[in-house]
Amino acid sequence: MEQTFFIIKPDAIKRGLVGQILSRVERRGFVIRDLNMMTATEDLVAKHYEHLTDKPFFPLLVDYMTSGPVIAGILEGPEVVKSWRDMMGATNPVNALPGTIRGDFATAPIDGIVANVVHGSDSIEAAHREIALWLGK
Ligand code: TYD
Ligand code: MG
Repeated sequence: MEQTFFIIKPDAIKRGLVGQILSRVERRGFVIRDLNMMTATEDLVAKHYEHLTDKPFFPLLVDYMTSGPVIAGILEGPEVVKSWRDMMGATNPVNALPGTIRGDFATAPIDGIVANVVHGSDSIEAAHREIALWLGK
């Protein structure tokens, strides 16, 4: 069965949104296969977002992702990679539709920080890479 890797980001933990986010996962019918609370290092975030290290916003992204604990885990179900991306909504919450997690729980960026609540792998290959990187599996 297909798997994807997801993160509940530090802003969501601080705001007490974990239950509501996991509730949406369960309501949709996906299985939570692994769930870990951890605080990411700068090195882990840099490897995770290796395609973005040259971007001007990268230092802000690292500060945000290391600003507190995250919950990282695996979701499983049919076509879960695409479905979880659809449930998350657009990267910039100002473009995320109501009904999506980002569209329901996040605002437009403040001071350039895109605090967008959740991460999800964008392909099956990325899911394999991210599960190995974060969870050693
Ligand atoms: P990206 O992989 O493009 O988006 P997504 O999370 O939807 O897969 O970017 C990774 C993260 O980088 C994104 O969630 C928030 C941050 N980011 C910015 O801070 N500014 C930006 O302009 C972009 C494109 C991303
Ligand atoms: Mg991405």
